[in-house]
Order: sequence, then C-alpha cells, then structure tokens
Amino acid sequence: MATIEMDGLVKRYGNDTVVDGVDLSVDDGELLVLLGPSGCGKTTTLRMVAGLEQITDGELRFDGVVVNHEPPDRRSVGMVFQNYALYPHMTVRGNLSFGLQSRRPRGSRRSARAEERDLVQEIARLLELEHVLDHRPKELSGGQRQRVALGRALVRRPQVFLLDEPLSNLDANLRERMRMELSRLHEQLPITTIYVTHDQSEALTLADRIVVMHEGRVRQVASPREIYDAPAEAFIAEFIGSPGMNLWTLPWIEKDRDDITLGDEIRLPRRPDPAIHRDGQPITLGIRPEHLEIAGEPDHTSIGLSCRVELVEDLGSHVLVHGTLGSHDGQRVVAKLDAASVVDRGARLRLRAAPERVHAFDALSGSRLGTFAGSARVAVTA
Ligand SMILES: Nc1ncnc2c1ncn2[C@@H]1O[C@H](COP(=O)(O)OP(=O)(O)OP(=O)(O)O)[C@@H](O)[C@H]1O
Ligand SMILES: [Mg+2]
Repeated sequence: MATIEMDGLVKRYGNDTVVDGVDLSVDDGELLVLLGPSGCGKTTTLRMVAGLEQITDGELRFDGVVVNHEPPDRRSVGMVFQNYALYPHMTVRGNLSFGLQSRRPRGSRRSARAEERDLVQEIARLLELEHVLDHRPKELSGGQRQRVALGRALVRRPQVFLLDEPLSNLDANLRERMRMELSRLHEQLPITTIYVTHDQSEALTLADRIVVMHEGRVRQVASPREIYDAPAEAFIAEFIGSPGMNLWTLPWIEKDRDDITLGDEIRLPRRPDPAIHRDGQPITLGIRPEHLEIAGEPDHTSIGLSCRVELVEDLGSHVLVHGTLGSHDGQRVVAKLDAASVVDRGARLRLRAAPERVHAFDALSGSRLGTFAGSARVAVTA
C-alpha cells in the first residue's frame, strides 16, 4: 500500500528553477506516466521522489507521511534507470538476489534463504526469465537484460516503483513487446508506479493517467484518451500524436459573420460556438492529421481547407501528405490518409474534417477553448 503526494515540489540549482511547483498525487496501485520534452524536469522530479535529490521547496508525502528528509533506503522505493547496469560476472539469479543478500541480517535462518529463493523464482516466472536464471548478462538479449533490471528492483518488494525511461535503449520491436509485458506485469503486481518517458506511445498504452510536463511545470493530468481528445493546451496538442496536431493561428473570427473564409483556404462554420468566439482576438485552430480526409464536393457539414502538396510519404499502412496553405503565409498541413489515396506532389488538394474534430485554442495563452462540434453550419465557398 502506498500513495504519493507532491505538494508544490520545487527543485532549484543555483538560480535555475528546473521543477517549478509540481502538485501531483498518485493513487495506490496506479501507474502514472510523466511525459514531456527533454529537459522539462521529469528525471529531477523522479529523483526527488526517490530521495536521490534534495527537495528545495514543497512537501513530499508517502501514505500521508512527510518524507522530504527520509534517506532513499527508508522510502521502500525500487528504481530502474535508463542506463541500468547488471553485474556482468553474476548469473541472472545472482543479479536478481544481490540486493536481498545485502539486506539479510547475519546468521539469519535457513528458512529466510529458502524464502528468498522462492521470491527470486516467482519474479523470474513473472518476467519469463526462469530458463535463463543461470545465464550471465552477456548471454542475454536486450529485452531479457531489461527484465533482469526490472526484476532486481521488484524482488525487494518496493511499495513504490520508479521507472526512468526503462525501455529507451531497446529497438522498436523489443520496446513494443516490453511495453506490453510491463502492462501485464503491472496488472499482476499493482505497485504504485511513476513511469518517466518522452515516448508518447509508451505513455498512451501504459498509463492510468498521464502527466504532461513542460518547463518544470505540470500542464495537464488526465487519462490517455482525454489527453488525446481534449488537450488542455496547444503545446500538448502538438506534442501528442505522431505527427502531432496541425495548428494554425488565425487573426480573428468575427462574431456574427456569415461565411468565414481565410484566403479561401480554411473554411469555418458560420457563427461558431460562443466559447470559441474571440471577437477581434486571434485563435489557434487545430486538426489532427488522422482526422483530415480528402474532400469531394463541398459540403455543409465539415470544415474544409485547401493546400498545395509538397511531399507524399508512403508509410505502408498509410500515407502522410505534407502540404502548405499557399497564400496563407505558407502555413503547413500534414494529413494522414488511407494507404490507397492517390495524391500527386505539386497538386492542389482539398481536405476536410468533421467540426467535432476541429479544436480551438486561445492564440495568446494557448489554452483550450473547445471544438467546433456545436457549430450550426459551415460556410462553403465553391
Ligand atoms: N545537477 C544539475 N545541476 C544543474 N542543472 C541540472 C542538474 N540536473 C538537471 N539539471 C537541469 O534541469 C533540467 C531538467 O532536467 P531533467 O533531467 O529533469 O530533464 P528530463 O525531463 O528528465 O529530460 P530528458 O527527457 O532529456 O531526460 C534540465 O534543464 C537540466 O539541464
Ligand atoms: Mg530524464
């Protein structure tokens, strides 16, 4: 049983504030993912939780008890780093039980040793390492080594599991498999876990909740689905998804105008939702590449845009079409289209998206205003 609460957690190095007032609580047994671009303070936050970094300001509680000044070995935390190291001269069994032996009181009974053996066996079974228990690290695959590193942290039966990009040195296929295995493992052993990554597919598949960090601050905490469907800020919309959301900043949307066309390239609904109204103020419009499709005849239900195709990337399962919105200052657009789509470089292409797939953000603050779902009609110019 363990819950973690961070209350205004701050880390400063000299005059540099690298973690700037993080408030978070992790439920018992939850897998929380910290996601964010390089340098946003993920590792530093994790190291403060582990006790490896002094907390400059704020409070850290485990199960309601302040642990700011508890040394790492009193926090019952298991940590796996990006660059884990196994003992090369020891077998897998030796590596797994190493931590235990150093903890065993001298002269402890034989039953303690038997218990340890059982525990190592159990963890090896969970991680599918039983058949390699007598191998040395150099005889293992990358994924097996990674699992030994996880196992070594697990045999100590931590109450809190902290993982810092544990899969980052594996190739794409292995990462994907390990991601599934971690997910399964967490289901079987629901230890309160904070998992750091800058890989969003890892975050989306593993997390109960995702915390998006940027410049030392928490920007959104939500389920993977919500982060994807309703990003709280333009920055998050662009960061999540591959490729991220298309964003265009438009000078304004005039209230009560009937047809709104911007250089004939983006057609918006007439009388957009009041929440989206920013009379006289710029807004940022966003559409995910996968929500754009080739438009046939102009219709009255979707939002349209037209672009010049610059590059077509065939990725097997789909094509990525990169284009520019010609007269509109060369703003770019990426559309993720069906593999069978026939699109020529240099051609003009009309695309459309359903209004509920079109997001609006305040152009100045970046914060989310909503989608065009509630908009009554679409102004279409032929
Ligand atoms: N010991 C230190 N002294 C000074 N600055 C530091 C120290 N450790 C980290 N930083 C700075 O703190 C910021 C956050 O670093 P951190 O390692 O937490 O980032 P991160 O989110 O884990 O990034 P990445 O995804 O690249 O691992 C960075 O700007 C980094 O340069
Ligand atoms: Mg890091």
